[in-house]
Amino acid sequence: MSDSLAAGGAVAGSGEGTRAVRAGLPEPVKYEPTLPGPVFAAHFHLPGEPTGPYTYGRDENPTWTHLERAVGELEAPGQDGVETLVFASGMAAISSVLFSQLRAGDTVVLPSDGYQALPLVRAQLEAYGIEVRTAPTGGDAQLGALDGAKLLWIESPSNPGLDVCDIRRLAEAAHARGALVAVDNTLATPLGQRPLELGADFSVASGTKQLTGHGDVLLGYVTGHAGGPMTAVRRWRKIVGAIPGPMEAWLAHRSISTLQMRVDRQSSTALAVARALRKRPEVTGLRYPGLPDDPSHQVASRQMRRYGCVVSFTLPTRARAERFLDRLRLVDDATSFGGVRSTAERRGRWGGDAVPEGFIRLSVGAEDPEDLVADVLRALEESAR
Ligand SMILES: Cc1ncc(COP(=O)(O)O)c(C=O)c1O
Repeated sequence: MSDSLAAGGAVAGSGEGTRAVRAGLPEPVKYEPTLPGPVFAAHFHLPGEPTGPYTYGRDENPTWTHLERAVGELEAPGQDGVETLVFASGMAAISSVLFSQLRAGDTVVLPSDGYQALPLVRAQLEAYGIEVRTAPTGGDAQLGALDGAKLLWIESPSNPGLDVCDIRRLAEAAHARGALVAVDNTLATPLGQRPLELGADFSVASGTKQLTGHGDVLLGYVTGHAGGPMTAVRRWRKIVGAIPGPMEAWLAHRSISTLQMRVDRQSSTALAVARALRKRPEVTGLRYPGLPDDPSHQVASRQMRRYGCVVSFTLPTRARAERFLDRLRLVDDATSFGGVRSTAERRGRWGGDAVPEGFIRLSVGAEDPEDLVADVLRALEESAR
């Protein structure tokens, strides 16, 4: 740890861009690269007693260590005793928290409008004898489901509806009842929101999205207070083996150096796109937490520093939405979000979200804002015919 602490100390008090650029870097070593390359190792030389830090590749890897420090420095800057664990995907990270903390007879509160794989998780939790309650993200409705719960799972902003809840308020209420609190921080990224500072016990995310930002890596992470519940999360990773490859971990770390630039650019362009969409008569249900009149804006502005790259809205029919997607030239029709290349999809095609047939989730990339706005407006025009 000491090299990271020393390296982190060099940028303590610096701006977020500076911290992102240097996040997790080891102390400079003459003739060594700034960010050491991926370590491909299933096992490490280990004579004698099998003590760490590096014994076997499913338990630890130096490339993960650097990435874990980087994520921790952004999720919980200046906080001592915080630990991050990286996983093979966001779902691996989510499952590691839920399945390591809950036992038969426990109760968990999930969002009813969260990521579309959560219902699959729900079914699995119930099969293990865990009671699952759900409530929507908006209006802090999960508050009403907390009595007797062991864990509260928050997703804010929610995907794809972009509702926001008051994380601090919910965390205080959950803790008062003895429940742990986890926040899915995928959409916000640690530069948009820091759940641990808002009182959460775990910040969990899919690094597949904006954290890595190039649409070429699957990754997940959990950040929490070292020891205690995090020990069980680490144990779960060892048991299940849902670990990232060294190449993915290294690519993720390299990508984090541009996180601030990407998040700033993509958030400001997302706001420009949302403003342009607001003027269109065929667009309803427009949501972007950064819009001052968005229903989420008040709460979001208290706990978020950037509002993310996703804009959602509804076109009148499924056919209109499909034509719109077809006419876009700078936006790929693809799922996922957060990449430097804009993507959009008709979310209803998956069948998992309670959204209208014409509902579009648009992920704003790093293109020039005026090009992207023009492309979206042109596609809207052409899709009317
Ligand atoms: C909010 C949210 N959480 C978790 C996940 C799962 O992440 P992954 O696809 O990396 O497993 C996703 C994926 O879209 C997501 O949108």
